[in-house]
This record gives sequence, C-alpha cells and structure tokens, in this order.
Amino acid sequence: VIDIRKLYAQTGAFTFDPGFTSTASCESALTYIDGDEGVLLHRGYPIGQLAEHSSFMEVSYLLLNGELPSKDELDDFSYTITRHTMLHEQLMTFYRGFRRDAHPMAIMCGVVGALSAFYHDSTDISDPTHRTISSHRLIAKMPTIAAMAYKYSVGQPFVYPDNSLSYTGNFLRMTFGVPAEPYIVNPVVERALDRIFILHADHEQNASTSTVRLAGSSGANPFACIAAGIACLWGPAHGGANEAALNMLKEIGTPDKIPHYIERAKDKNDPFRLMGFGHRVYKNYDPRATVMQKTVREVFEALKVTDPLFETALRLEEIALNDPYFIEKKLFPNVDFYSGIILSAIGFPTTMFTALFALARTVGWVAQWNEMISDPGQKIGRPRQLYTGPTERDYISLDKR
Ligand code: ACO
Repeated sequence: VIDIRKLYAQTGAFTFDPGFTSTASCESALTYIDGDEGVLLHRGYPIGQLAEHSSFMEVSYLLLNGELPSKDELDDFSYTITRHTMLHEQLMTFYRGFRRDAHPMAIMCGVVGALSAFYHDSTDISDPTHRTISSHRLIAKMPTIAAMAYKYSVGQPFVYPDNSLSYTGNFLRMTFGVPAEPYIVNPVVERALDRIFILHADHEQNASTSTVRLAGSSGANPFACIAAGIACLWGPAHGGANEAALNMLKEIGTPDKIPHYIERAKDKNDPFRLMGFGHRVYKNYDPRATVMQKTVREVFEALKVTDPLFETALRLEEIALNDPYFIEKKLFPNVDFYSGIILSAIGFPTTMFTALFALARTVGWVAQWNEMISDPGQKIGRPRQLYTGPTERDYISLDKR
C-alpha cells in the first residue's frame, strides 16, 4: 500500500493546509489586515478614517483605482455609476419566476448570474474597457437588484431608481419607498447605511472573495463570478453571520440568559457558537465592530428608537471578553455582531442583512477580480489534494460483487 501522506511529505511537492490558514493565494495591493493589532487598511487608509470621513462611492473609487479621487473624478465616477442603475425590463419577469418566500440571497444569486445573458459585451474579459464597464454595471445594479428582491418578497411593486439621489439614498428609496410617491431620505440613516457599506466593501482574501477569484481564474465572466461570491457569502460562517447574530440575540432575549449561552458556546459537545464572535484573521477587536457599535447609538438617536437587544449585545460582549475561554481563544466581536441591530432599527428584515453585505462587498469583489485579470502572470486556480481513498485495484464485474 502506498502511503500517500509519506510520499507527499518526502517529495515536499505540496503543502497541506486545510482552510488555507497559512497560504497566500495571491498578491494584492487592495487591503491590508493585521489581525493581531486589529488593523484594517484599504490602499493604506485606516478603515476608521474612511468610515468617519469618506463615502461609499469614494471608497469604491479608491478600491478600484488605487487612489482617493479628486472632486471631478468623484463626480464623474458617481455619474457613471448612476447611469447604470437600471435593470433590463425583462429581468422583472425573471423575478416573478421566484416563489414569494424565496430568500433574497437566492434571488440575488440568480439575477446577478443572469446579467451575463443581457450584457454580452461584458463576457469579453480580455478588454480592460469592458472589464471596467462590467465593474460599473455590477456596483450600480446591486442596490436595484437587492431592493427589488425585497419588494418582491413583500408583494409590493418595484420602485425604479431615482438617479437624483445618492447611491445609498436611492437604495433606501427603492427599498422603503412607493412608486411615484416622494420619499424623504433621513440623512442620519443614509449616512449610517453608507458607513455600513464602507465597512463591508472589502476584506482581502475571505471565503467569498477567494471564490470570486477562483471562479474568475478560469476566465468566467464577471457576473457569473460575482454570483458565485454571493452564494459563498450566504453561509452562516461568513456573511450569513449578521442574520444569525441577530437571531441569536433574539433567542437569548434578556441579559440574565447570557451565562447559559456562554456555557453552551464553550461546550465542545454543543454545536452552538456565539454568532458575530471570532474571526479567522482578527485575534483582537475587529475595527469594524467599533464603528458599528458607535453607529447603533447614532441611528437610535436619529430615529428616536431603542432596542433592548442592544443592551443584551453589550452585556454579552462584556461577559465574553472577561471569560477565560474567549480570552484564551482570542474571540472578539466581529463586524456582524452589531450590524443587525442597526439594520433592524432602519427597518430591514433579517433576511435582507446578508443581501446588504453582498451589495457592499460587490465593489471589493470586482476590484479583486480586476486586479487578478490584469496580472499578466495570472493562472487558473487549481489546488491539489491529499488523497485518502483506496490505492489502485482491479474492477470486479457486477456478478462477482
Ligand atoms: N463561539 C465559540 N467558540 C468559538 C467561536 C464562537 N463564535 N469561534 C471560534 N470558536 C472556537 C472554536 O470552537 C475553536 O475552539 P478549539 O480550538 O477548542 O477547537 C477555536 O475557537 C478556533 O475556531 P475555528 O473555528 O477553528 O476558527 P476559524 O478561524 O476556522 O473560524 C469563524 C472563524 C468561522 C469566524 C468562527 O470564529 C465562527 O464560526 N464564528 C461565528 C460565525 C461568525 O461570526 N462569522 C462571521 C465571520 S466575519 C465575516 O465573515 C464577515
């Protein structure tokens, strides 16, 4: 019997790294994370500064082009994105093919993938101009696609884009507005949501971004690649965690129940984990969670609402951060821990949380995809495996089995 593990070890030809915990799959100049220090930089700029002073359109430009835009460049970019917000009318028929109770992420996977059936020029990925147009189309259409998934799920008519509004204001109107009726965008809510989009814009080689890169490495068209990214993001260990975190907080309910759930999270025989806690890279406080926590208070104040789950979340964080298990394993709140509370206060149902994440992450996905395709040394992604099945054996005819 050939001992494959030994053979691989002797030849030294492969590294065996399940979950890619210590493998860099590419070079990238977009995003830097120092997980031990809790640092996140986009093109060198700290996420805290971008969240405080920048806008999602500006961060999108930065990720795509490498530098912050001048005023004229930003105006041009915003205008270009605005021009692409509409969906082809035939896609409305496509929406109607879904069941009303379909998860918005299921609809988004389908609709984004279907865009390649409408924009044939975008399938030519060898031309940088077409790649840029595809990127703009995707960034521009995601709010429309997400809002329409929501409208369809609640049985309301679609609201078409109003391009006099900002990227985020337009999304709020398409989600919560009514066709042909004026919609007043609350500036604090608009700013808070725009900040949430900034916080989700990119995060180096996470599972969904790696999926987009792997799909794109074969030369697949950008819409198919982003649809693959959306599918990956949906999982509860990734983007689905914001939905799962709020559901968990609802299940915990009041702070007196927290110790019971903390014990469950520590019990290795119980599959329960604290959702919105822990991260593959951050072994310190996720800098995005700090901004999220601050934004909760701003939104509550602006909308004159409160949510007892916020108190539960704060208490849960306090208890966990003082618990030896969480200290030893370096488990801190991540971006998903507080985002659900804000989105819920704004009025989004939990099923839309991951859809909003996908909307914002689209810019990171397309920037990473472009970076990969532009690399002249780019190769198809093709990991190897450590084979654990039977060694070679002869076929046995059916009558002898
Ligand atoms: N609650 C309790 N224990 C946890 C948690 C948690 N949330 N997260 C990790 N642990 C424990 C694990 O049980 C494991 O313990 P062990 O060493 O005794 O086996 C140890 O910490 C390391 O955990 P891994 O799962 O090996 O770490 P990994 O890097 O693979 O996973 C992940 C990271 C998936 C984020 C994990 O922390 C998790 O499941 N968190 C909850 C889901 C979540 O919030 N996901 C969002 C991530 S951020 C994002 O995608 C935007």
